[in-house]
Amino acid sequence: MAQLGVNIDHVATIRQARRTYEPDPVWAAVEAQLGGADLITVHLREDRRHIQDHDVERIRTMCQCNLNLEMAATDEMVKIAKKIRPHMVTLVPEGRMEVTTEGGLNVSGNRKRLKAIVKKLNDAGIAMSAFIDAESKQIDASAEAGFQLCEIHTGPYAHAFHAAGGEFVCDELAAELKKVADAGGRIQAAGMQFNAGHALNYLNVQPIARLTGKKELHIGHAIVSRAVFTGLREAVREGARAPDSAAR
Ligand code: PXP
Repeated sequence: MAQLGVNIDHVATIRQARRTYEPDPVWAAVEAQLGGADLITVHLREDRRHIQDHDVERIRTMCQCNLNLEMAATDEMVKIAKKIRPHMVTLVPEGRMEVTTEGGLNVSGNRKRLKAIVKKLNDAGIAMSAFIDAESKQIDASAEAGFQLCEIHTGPYAHAFHAAGGEFVCDELAAELKKVADAGGRIQAAGMQFNAGHALNYLNVQPIARLTGKKELHIGHAIVSRAVFTGLREAVREGARAPDSAAR
């Protein structure tokens, strides 16, 4: 059964729209946990557009949840991670102008620097995950850099799923799913944990959840969107059930 990581950045986005104190991401973390989340993810962006430093600190100290801190591979973020000591850090590429994370981390082009960061944070007791595209060279470089986990970027698969209406007779969709599956196999063969995330939702998650060896599925937008209508606890509950519901 897949574990569910819930990204609650959007809750902070709503708060920051008014630069006020509500809704509180700490409440969101608790609600998500009560709904069955195995892991809470927050992305502390360099421009602090949603999650703030004090959110990460409060979630770490006030919630008994496994915390995944998503961040760019910068000195500032490494310093923060060492201080906060989340259970896990996911390194992601970050662009100021992007609406959300676009594409995976270029591990193969930055092996030396990333290896040093992985070691530093491993030494602080933090498990290290690389958010990467489903490419062999990125997987091999992640293993070489010492990452324990790889999260495969499922954005291209999700777009193909949407375009094909979920019909796997569509070559493009079948090909995108195969890329994720092959990447998962290579990640496990290299001794790392196979996770997946980005643009997953209650429907497209099912074929991904059936892939051999997948461990954690990371979902944000779809769950927080549903929460507007159902409440976060229920949206997470449904999200936790979705990967294993009778799939197409
Ligand atoms: N995984 C990573 C590394 C991400 O950057 C994001 C988006 O913040 C997610 C998963 C969740 O993506 P979505 O919000 O599309 O579900």
